[in-house]
Amino acid sequence: MRKMFICGNWKMNTTAAEAVRLLDGLKPAAAAAPAVEVGACPPFVYLAGASAALKGSAIALGAQNMYFEASGAFTGEISASMLTDVGCKYVILGHSERRHVFGEGDELINKKVRAAFAAGLIPILCVGELLEERESGNTEAVVKRHVTEGLRGLAASDAARIVIAYEPVWAIGTGKTATPEQANDVHVFIRGLLAELYDVETASAIRIQYGGSVKPDNTFDLMSLPEVDGALVGGASLKVDSFSQIIKEAARACS
Ligand code: PGA
Repeated sequence: MRKMFICGNWKMNTTAAEAVRLLDGLKPAAAAAPAVEVGACPPFVYLAGASAALKGSAIALGAQNMYFEASGAFTGEISASMLTDVGCKYVILGHSERRHVFGEGDELINKKVRAAFAAGLIPILCVGELLEERESGNTEAVVKRHVTEGLRGLAASDAARIVIAYEPVWAIGTGKTATPEQANDVHVFIRGLLAELYDVETASAIRIQYGGSVKPDNTFDLMSLPEVDGALVGGASLKVDSFSQIIKEAARACS
């Protein structure tokens, strides 16, 4: 049974004080929705403070990126073990902003995925097509490449624990959400691909989130889809009210 997972991706936002206020504000909604796993991914510099603020709560902490090497002369980078050291359970990898603003490719992302597992972190692997890729009929080819290359070399026991976030790039931060039908088609495709890459049992254990302009008023319809196991939420995760409402709607969808 896959537990619904609603995770906030704060991107490059908040101050230290806002981060703590936001996390404190989310606790009641998270506590009231035991059927939903709630997570938050603040910027690196606020992770330690966030971890302290979350002590005793069920909200999981995640980071937004990491480097694959364990330590050494990699100025400006953060390792997987540093993230577990400050209390992270998850790390977002291959987000479209990493792919398209910072030029990260599938091979690098795969190295990060494997390093994350080796250090005891669970990756949230983001996959998804650009608008021109959708319009030229290449959605499945792009998603297939992101998933296949992202998981390359992973044993089924690790793969079963990964979270995949399907985020059509044209829906991120644009206010354009994929319709439930568009999201469902790609989620079904990913589940089938995972069964081909591994087996049906492994595929059915993997949580596949949807991401891209998830808001309180579209959460219920998206989260009610049988193959959608949660959401990766950007903009709407930065306000206590909207993220709490999303958690509530997700709980309603899986009740
Ligand atoms: P958005 O971002 O909810 O602001 O569209 C989602 C994401 O980038 O993960």
